[in-house]
Amino acid sequence: MNNALDGKVALVTGGGRGIGAAVATRLAREGADVALTYQQNQHRADEVVDQIKAAGRRAVAIQADSSDTAAVVAAVDRVIGELGRLDILVNNAGAFLLGPLEQLTLEDFEQTVAVNVRAPFVAAQAAVRHMPAGGRIINIGSNTAERAVFPGFSLYAMSKTALIGLTKALGRELGDRAITVNLVNPGATDTELNPADGPNADTIRGFTALGHYAEPTDVAAAVAFLASPDGRYITGATVNVDGGFTI
Ligand SMILES: NC(=O)c1ccc[n+]([C@@H]2O[C@H](COP(=O)([O-])OP(=O)(O)OC[C@H]3O[C@@H](n4cnc5c(N)ncnc54)[C@H](OP(=O)(O)O)[C@@H]3O)[C@@H](O)[C@H]2O)c1
Repeated sequence: MNNALDGKVALVTGGGRGIGAAVATRLAREGADVALTYQQNQHRADEVVDQIKAAGRRAVAIQADSSDTAAVVAAVDRVIGELGRLDILVNNAGAFLLGPLEQLTLEDFEQTVAVNVRAPFVAAQAAVRHMPAGGRIINIGSNTAERAVFPGFSLYAMSKTALIGLTKALGRELGDRAITVNLVNPGATDTELNPADGPNADTIRGFTALGHYAEPTDVAAAVAFLASPDGRYITGATVNVDGGFTI
């Protein structure tokens, strides 16, 4: 175990499974205490919490739908109440609503923007009230912000592209507090959202320079580096963890 994050507290939204779970356990392995949110699968979130506690760190699972601004703010408040501080915010929970333009509804639009854009903004706003110097905000976007290979991604790509602007502007704004803000854009990552044996998986692999999907731990490794003291001079950046899909 590396102790780079000893004494730090992290909040990972959507940390019950997939990329968020890998990030939560990796940050804990580096020494952080970790809170994670989930939408409905308490059992999965509890499993991640148990794993982190077994490794000797504090952990808490919080039910908080990212589309509910009050729940997002309450989650940040609970982290402060239960874990005492907040150093690292990872905005990972995402809505993945796909479809042809004519079939997407305004409800789909509102839900996508609420979860993928408004929640990271609101969580950052709540978190920086407590975040000390050395703090980290890490947004999880998508490489679809850079390369639109498949039809049906208009809402998703639009919302993930907004995170590029949010990341740069907050990086500028929070720099004088020594808080860094960065964006990690995964490519195809083997989770329940995008399984490596799914219907488009072979096509995706064909577009990927490295020829295979990422594991969630590959994305978590980039997040852990940005969260660590070694990442202190990187801010406003977009890091593609996509096996070369966008090159
Ligand atoms: N997998 C990929 O290929 C890929 C590629 C690029 C970007 N990404 C991005 O990476 C992030 C994580 O994706 P993933 O593949 O790990 O997804 P996933 O396997 O579907 O896991 C999603 C996690 O987020 C939680 N969640 C979903 N909607 C939520 C909401 N409204 N409020 C709170 N929590 C919510 C889920 O909670 P429950 O368990 O309670 O449902 C679960 O813990 C997303 O932002 C996604 O857009 C993924």
